[in-house]
Amino acid sequence: MWGGRFAEGPSSVMREINASIPFDKRMWRQDIAGSKAHVAMLGKQGIVAADDAATIAAGLDAVAADYERDGVPEDLALEDIHMLTEARLAERIGPVAGRLHTARSRNDQVATDFRLWVRDATDQVLAALDMLQGALLARAEEHADSVMPGFTHLQSAQPVTLGHHLMAYFEMIARDVSRFSDNRARGNRCPLGSAALAGTGFDLDREATARALEFDGPTRNSLDAVSDRDFALDYLMAAAQCSLHLSRLAEEFVIWASQPFGFVKLSDQWSTGSSIMPQKRNPDAAELVRGHSGRIVGCLTALMITMKGLPLAYSKDMQDDKPPVFECHDLLALSIAAMTGMVESASFRTDRMRGLAESGFATATDLADWLVREGGIPFREAHHITGRAVAAAESKGVRLDQLELAELTAIDPRIDERVFGVLSVDASVNSRTSFGGTSPVRVREAIAAARAARGE
Ligand code: ARG
Repeated sequence: MWGGRFAEGPSSVMREINASIPFDKRMWRQDIAGSKAHVAMLGKQGIVAADDAATIAAGLDAVAADYERDGVPEDLALEDIHMLTEARLAERIGPVAGRLHTARSRNDQVATDFRLWVRDATDQVLAALDMLQGALLARAEEHADSVMPGFTHLQSAQPVTLGHHLMAYFEMIARDVSRFSDNRARGNRCPLGSAALAGTGFDLDREATARALEFDGPTRNSLDAVSDRDFALDYLMAAAQCSLHLSRLAEEFVIWASQPFGFVKLSDQWSTGSSIMPQKRNPDAAELVRGHSGRIVGCLTALMITMKGLPLAYSKDMQDDKPPVFECHDLLALSIAAMTGMVESASFRTDRMRGLAESGFATATDLADWLVREGGIPFREAHHITGRAVAAAESKGVRLDQLELAELTAIDPRIDERVFGVLSVDASVNSRTSFGGTSPVRVREAIAAARAARGE
C-alpha cells in the first residue's frame, strides 16, 4: 500500500509490532460504512466517476458479506482493517479499488471508524443500563417498606428501607446514563475529510458524509479531528465511573450474602459452589463485577497515559487506543448484565434485615430528636442522654424500646411514655419524610417520578 519508496520489506518483528489487525478487525462494520459514505460522496462530487463509485460500493458490500460469513482474516502484512479491506476490494473489483482512498487518509478514516464504534458501544451500554435501572426500580417498589439497617462505617446507623437503598443505586446509574448520553452528543462529529492532518484540496462535501453516517456534522479542525481521542477517553471515564457504582453494589451483595449478614440469598443462577466445601454458595459474579472495575479503571489509565504528551497530529502510539476501549467495553457490558441478573433474581431476607435494624440501637437518633422536639432540650445534651440510654440497654441486653419507662426516666425525668412512639424501626423510617428521605411515602414518590421520567 505504501511500498513505492521502499526497496526492502519490513522485518517480521516490525510487521508484528506495526499490525493492528488482530484487534481493529473488530471495527470492520464501521470501516465499511465509512468507506461507503466516502465513495458515495466522491461519486456525487464528480471526484470519482459515478460508475466507478457504484462498482466500489458494490465491492465493499461483497467484502462485508465475506467478513460476515468467514470472519476477518488476520493478515499481518496488511497491517490493519483499513488496508485489509482495500486489498480485499482490489481482489474483487480490480484497480478501480484504488480510487476509494482519494481525498482520504487512514488518519481520518480510523478516527471516523473509532468514533462510530464508540458511539455504537455507548448505545449498547445505554440500553443495558436502562435494563438495570428497570430491575432496580422493580425491586425497590417491592421493598419500599422493608426495613433494613442503614450503615455508616459499616456500623448500624439509622434504619432505612431496602427500597430507598436500591433507589440510591438507581440515582447513581441515572447519572451514568447522563454521562454516556452527553459523551454521545459531544463526540458525534465526523472526521472524514480531515485527510492526513491538513484537510484536502479536493472539493469534498463533508456535510454529506457526516449525514450519511448519522453524525451531527463534520469536525471543525482537521488537526484536532485526526489526533484527539477524547471521545474514547470520555467513554472510558464514564465507563470507569459506572463500574465504580457497579462495584459498590456488587460489594454490598457480597456482604449481604455472607452468613453473618444473611440479607440476601443469590439465586442458583448467580451463585457458584466450591469444589471442596459442599455447603458453599459463593457470590462469584458479584466479586468479578467488583474485580472488573479495577481492570476498567486500568483501561482508562492506559489510554490517558498513551495520549499524554503526544504532539499534534497523528502518532502511531494512537493505534494503542483501541485495545483498552474494547477490553473496557466487554468488561462493562458483562458487569452490567451480571448486576442486572443478580438484582432481578436475588431473594432479600427482610426478616434478617429487620432483625439487625432492631438490634443495633439504630433508633438512638430518634430518641435524641424526640428529646429536642418534646423536651426542648439542646441537641448536644439530648445526644448525651441518649448515649446513656443506649449504654443501659446494652448492659441489660435489650433493644432501646425494650427498656422500662422507669429505667428511662431514671436517666432523664423529662422522658415520658410517648417516647415509645418513636423508638420502633418503623416509626423511625416513617418519620424520615424530608424530600429524598427514606420514609416509604417518599420512596414511593421517588419511584413514581422515576417511572414517569422513563415514560412508564
Ligand atoms: N492502524 C492505524 C491506527 O489504528 C491506522 C492509522 C494509520 N495511520 C498512519 N499514518 N500510519 O491508528
